[in-house]
Amino acid sequence: MLSARSLFQEIIDNDASFQLFCSIAASGETQGGWENGRIAALIPDSQRELAPKIARHGADEDKHGRIFNALMKRRGLTPVNVPEDTDYTLLLEKRGVGLAHEQLRRDERLSEADIVTYLAHSRVTEQRAAEQMVMLRTYFADHPVIGKAVTMISNDEDNHLAYCHEELLRLAREGHARLIQRTLHDCALAEIRVYRDVSLAVMARMGRILNWPKPKSAALAVGIHAIYAYERLGGWRRMASLKMPARRNALSGPPTSAAEFA
Ligand SMILES: [Fe+2]
Ligand SMILES: [Fe+2]
Repeated sequence: MLSARSLFQEIIDNDASFQLFCSIAASGETQGGWENGRIAALIPDSQRELAPKIARHGADEDKHGRIFNALMKRRGLTPVNVPEDTDYTLLLEKRGVGLAHEQLRRDERLSEADIVTYLAHSRVTEQRAAEQMVMLRTYFADHPVIGKAVTMISNDEDNHLAYCHEELLRLAREGHARLIQRTLHDCALAEIRVYRDVSLAVMARMGRILNWPKPKSAALAVGIHAIYAYERLGGWRRMASLKMPARRNALSGPPTSAAEFA
């Protein structure tokens, strides 16, 4: 039977597919950490209070990167290069989603509109991250190797998503509502395409590593296209809506330790 659970079980059980999966995840998390660190450093004065939360957001993503690297190391594996067609963060940037790395490398203060762009991009991508981690947590919370990591990261991603909702609602009240709405709409539509393309590329590589028969790979590709069709037809709206979260101020305080993974 082709299920998300059996697919991930296969990917986790094989060294080469596990190595690719963890390398892709670690690289995305680390890039997210770097972006957040730069944004915290370049924050405009009017949004000063947000700086510690953005720094915490970045510290969490860096921690996730270290966790995925530690999972590989424990198994005697080293990270492999992330192929460009599987690089979610890079492809989003190329589509113009979020703040460009070139801008973040410059030592110029960001504007309030840039902060809206950052938060809208995060609101969309953190929803994706949170949903994927919920899926992994559902199946693998008790897994001896990845269970603890999945549970911790999933909790963090839920916090990130709550924080994005809360801060975007605050900025909407402060007069940025239309810009936020437009940015969320554009980000969500770009993200669902990138997610589809990256899913197809990752699954094609996994299929080669794990010698999947053609019908299995074909069925998976059909599934990925079906998810895209659903998201394009309206599923994207769940990534662009705003609702005050039950968890308030989710990113106050220092990040939770991941010492056991270091
Ligand atoms: Fe993360
Ligand atoms: Fe996150």
